[in-house]
Amino acid sequence: MAIRRIFETPDPILRQISRPVATFDDALKTLAGDMLETMYAAPGIGLAAVQVGEPVRLLVIDLQEPESEAKDAPIVRDPRVFVNPEILSTSDQEIPYTEGCLSVPEQYAEVMRPDRIRAKWQDLDGKVHEEPIDGLLAVCLQHEMDHLNGVLFIDHLSRLKREMVLKKLAKWRKEQAVDA
Ligand code: NI
Repeated sequence: MAIRRIFETPDPILRQISRPVATFDDALKTLAGDMLETMYAAPGIGLAAVQVGEPVRLLVIDLQEPESEAKDAPIVRDPRVFVNPEILSTSDQEIPYTEGCLSVPEQYAEVMRPDRIRAKWQDLDGKVHEEPIDGLLAVCLQHEMDHLNGVLFIDHLSRLKREMVLKKLAKWRKEQAVDA
């Protein structure tokens, strides 16, 4: 496995529509492994393949607290892989969640999304799964699925709010450049 470069906004690759996965081979498993390693190293709780430069409908999620790595407790991993995910239905009820994204580093904003979804996806062997999903996993899955359609969480914000986030991102990058 290898840590891959994470593409950041405004890189145009993040706006591409990812293509369906058709072949469930070793290359797909390697890519998923690399994505998990890249996500854990970042650290983050979700990553879509397009974020590492591969516009295919594959994403990884692990909701375990990334901060647990800093403590003495052993790291308990709970990796989940979703291939060709689809949302079959969503609840009318929406909930706010403060989201972040490895492609919009160090920026956070509240996004409203349906709190329950019914999702269908394939695993790395091509087996089909269908389940109701709620809570943080529902939020995270919807965020990552947006990436497959070229959408970032900041696109859900008002124009004013989005411009504020992008301004803060530019400022943060400038500070990083000075520190380096
Ligand atoms: Ni993201």
